[in-house]
Amino acid sequence: MQKKNDLELLTHGMKGEIRFQEPLSRHTSLGIGGPADVMVIPHDEEDLQLLGPRIQEEGVPVMVLGAGSNLLVKDGGIRGVVIKLSRFRKLKVYPGGVWAEAGVPLPTLLKQGVNEGAEGFEFLYGIPGTVGGAVTMNAGTREGETGPLVRRVRLLTFRGEILEFTGEELEFDYRSCRLPSGIILSTLFRFQRGDKNKIQQRLQTYRERRNATQPLNLPNVGSIFKNPPGNFAGRLIEDLGLKGYRIGGAQISEKHGNFFVNRGGATARDVIGLIKFAGRKIQQERGIVLELEVRLVGRDGP
Ligand code: EPU
Repeated sequence: MQKKNDLELLTHGMKGEIRFQEPLSRHTSLGIGGPADVMVIPHDEEDLQLLGPRIQEEGVPVMVLGAGSNLLVKDGGIRGVVIKLSRFRKLKVYPGGVWAEAGVPLPTLLKQGVNEGAEGFEFLYGIPGTVGGAVTMNAGTREGETGPLVRRVRLLTFRGEILEFTGEELEFDYRSCRLPSGIILSTLFRFQRGDKNKIQQRLQTYRERRNATQPLNLPNVGSIFKNPPGNFAGRLIEDLGLKGYRIGGAQISEKHGNFFVNRGGATARDVIGLIKFAGRKIQQERGIVLELEVRLVGRDGP
């Protein structure tokens, strides 16, 4: 654990909120995760300009947290500083683009975009992340991905510089992009006007499909594994009869094999146990090594 005094110095003079030993279970969609040494909820960009270079100089570990909806935090928690951008929620729709700060929840981006008649945001239906997380991970479904919507991204490096990138420069790929280390501040998305009825119809189709195939009523973290080339992690797990398998409070969803759910009181250790169990079975039986889609961070618990 970092010393509290050192962490206090790091955040000295900031206007935002500072919470020591903040349980990450309060900030992740799975409701799992040990404490962060310190969680900072910066008030504005000025706060970040103050904090970033101090973090860099002191060599303190840092993590930026979005909605915590693609994150599995281990039970021992996270060393150093966790930055939560929940105050960065401004959004503006212009004739040529939708500009959103990094902490804007994707459901808000979708709603505002659709209200203004923007086409191309529909695939976001049901993705619970934030703008910053969606850009970093190139969040998407089979219906679409974040990358092609991105015109520009504004990022603050830990040296305190502001950099701007075009969507093309970020070379979006399956669940990844090329961004230097830093904090995404805002993103400008393409705005293309579409037919409101058709947009609503697509939303309705996606809504029905997701409700039918994904366990959205139980705490989950979306897809656990990436789909391997030419196959689907969910199908592999189902074919091996692993759906419903349980370790402690964690369960491989009965509805979708690539969703692991918290049935109550699950620990990260339970979920990691399930990940290892399913991964090993698929490797043994099918010779496929699955890669994690969920981001696994933190230290093992006691
Ligand atoms: N399938 C099974 N059994 C299962 C689950 C799926 O046989 O238990 C089969 C389905 O029948 C289908 C195929 O596997 O033929 C793919 O399943 P699905 O349509 O549910 O999509 P997915 O590939 O599992 C991807 C994204 C999801 C996104 C959906 C819907 C990845 C890793 N996941 O899932 O994204 O919601 O498509 O478009 O690419 C996420 O990234 O966290 C996420 C939830």
